[in-house]
Amino acid sequence: MTKLGIIGAMQVEVEILLGRMENKTEKNIAGSTFYEGTLEGLPAVVVQCGVGKVNAAICAQILCDCFGVTHLVNTGIAGSLCAELDIGDLVVSRDAMYHDFDCNAFGYPSGKVPGMDVIAFPADETMMDYAFSAAESVNPGHTKVGRIASGDQFVAEKALKERIIALTHGLCTEMEGAAIAQTAYRNGIPFVILRAISDKADDSAEMDYPTFERIAAHRCAEVTCKLAKMLNE
Ligand code: ADE
Repeated sequence: MTKLGIIGAMQVEVEILLGRMENKTEKNIAGSTFYEGTLEGLPAVVVQCGVGKVNAAICAQILCDCFGVTHLVNTGIAGSLCAELDIGDLVVSRDAMYHDFDCNAFGYPSGKVPGMDVIAFPADETMMDYAFSAAESVNPGHTKVGRIASGDQFVAEKALKERIIALTHGLCTEMEGAAIAQTAYRNGIPFVILRAISDKADDSAEMDYPTFERIAAHRCAEVTCKLAKMLNE
């Protein structure tokens, strides 16, 4: 039976989902509240993990170990790395990699985690297809499928943005996706990351982010509900 684990970093990224959840019970583990119930009839657990890779990985592993989720989704907002992705547009992960992982000194390429057999963690094809259809139904003609570049950094500077693009060829940047992807990969659990653009990850990001955070996060949550519905059919 499918049980969907849904992770958002911030309150604004999970509040819509929590409002839509039925038969909700809650449990506190490692400082996070896990809400278990049904979303669009699908058994699901929603958690606000907090910002960054470690918070994200902790919650992803708890969802696997303590709740037995069969699928993972990371929903939220991101900075655009691609000229064609404007504020409010959507990104579905084909894969996810770190832009701030560096073991170059030992001969590993930037982004590669020693011991992992891939540099970018691949999303599940079926979840990608569902997420794309769901995104297209919410915002037609404004969804791209591609790489998510994650790191423990809010990107708000053109030079840094260009470095991340050159390294990862990602469509957008955020602070949790690849950590959830790596956790899913190590546990053999299918995942997808779904992000709405809140800023351009350049010198305008600090101004745009607070303006567009809520609308982008809520759009993404809307798509996540549709994805849950599709996984339940
Ligand atoms: N989340 C939303 N915008 C972001 C940015 N510019 N950098 C990192 N994470 C983000």
